[in-house]
Amino acid sequence: MNRIRAVQQALSMRSNPVYLEIGVSRGQAFQRISADVKLAVDPAFRLTDRTRELANAKGRVVEYFEITSDAFFENEAALLEQNPVDVALIDGLHTYEQVVRDVENTVRYLKDDGVIFLHDCNPPFELAGRRAESWDEFMAQQSGPLKIGIWNGDVWKAIVELRSTRPDLLVGVLKCDQGVGFVRKGSPESTLSYSPKQVEALTYADLKADRTRLLNLKPPRYLDEFLATTGAR
Ligand SMILES: C[S@@+](CC[C@H](N)C(=O)[O-])C[C@H]1O[C@@H](n2cnc3c(N)ncnc32)[C@H](O)[C@@H]1O
Repeated sequence: MNRIRAVQQALSMRSNPVYLEIGVSRGQAFQRISADVKLAVDPAFRLTDRTRELANAKGRVVEYFEITSDAFFENEAALLEQNPVDVALIDGLHTYEQVVRDVENTVRYLKDDGVIFLHDCNPPFELAGRRAESWDEFMAQQSGPLKIGIWNGDVWKAIVELRSTRPDLLVGVLKCDQGVGFVRKGSPESTLSYSPKQVEALTYADLKADRTRLLNLKPPRYLDEFLATTGAR
C-alpha cells in the first residue's frame, strides 16, 4: 500500500470523480491517477512534457495551477464550487500549519462522502521529521557529505492538531509509505485534546513515545474499512 494506491482505490469506487493534488513536483503520483477531472497545484512544477502527456491521457479535464495552495483556494473558489472534490492528495509544503490549512480549505470543497489523503505523516526517524520551509532548506540543514533523502517535516503535527480541533472529521494515518494520512467528514472514533500551544511544543521524542495514539495509526488493510464507511459507490 502507498499514497498512489490509496488514491486509486478511493477513486475506483466513484463515477466521474474529481481529483485534487496539492504538491505535484515531478508528477510521480499525478501521471498515474485516472479521474474525470484532475486538478494539479504546485508553485514549481517539475513535469516533463512526457509526464504531462501521460497525466493528461488519464483525465477528461486536466488543469495545472502553478501557484501555492493558499493562492489556489483564494483564486479558484468558483471552479471548486462547480467541481466538488471526491478525492484529494495533500503533499505540498511540509509544515504542519500549512497542512492544517490545506486540509481545512479542501474540506470546504469536499463532497460529503469525499476523502483526503496526506503524505509524510509518520517520519521514521528524527532527521526526517525536522522542520524546514522547503526541501532546499532541509538539505542545507545537514552538514557533511552524507545527506539523507527522506524529508517528512512536521506534517505529523497536523494530524494531532486536526484530531484535537475538528470533532467533525475522522482523521488517522496508515502505517505505510512514510505515513499516509486519511480524512473524511463524520464522527471520529477517538479525539485528542491538545491546545495549539501544546501542538507547537510537541517534539519528535513525543511522537516516538506515543505514535499509535497521537496519529491514530492503523495497518494498511484499514483502508478498506475506511473507504467502506464513506458510503461512496
Ligand atoms: C514531495 S513533492 C510532491 C510529490 C507528489 N505529490 C508525488 O506523490 O509524486 C512536494 C511539492 O510541494 C510543492 N510545494 C511547496 N510549497 C507548496 C505550497 N505552498 N503549495 C503547494 N505546493 C507546494 C513543492 O514545489 C514540491 O513540488
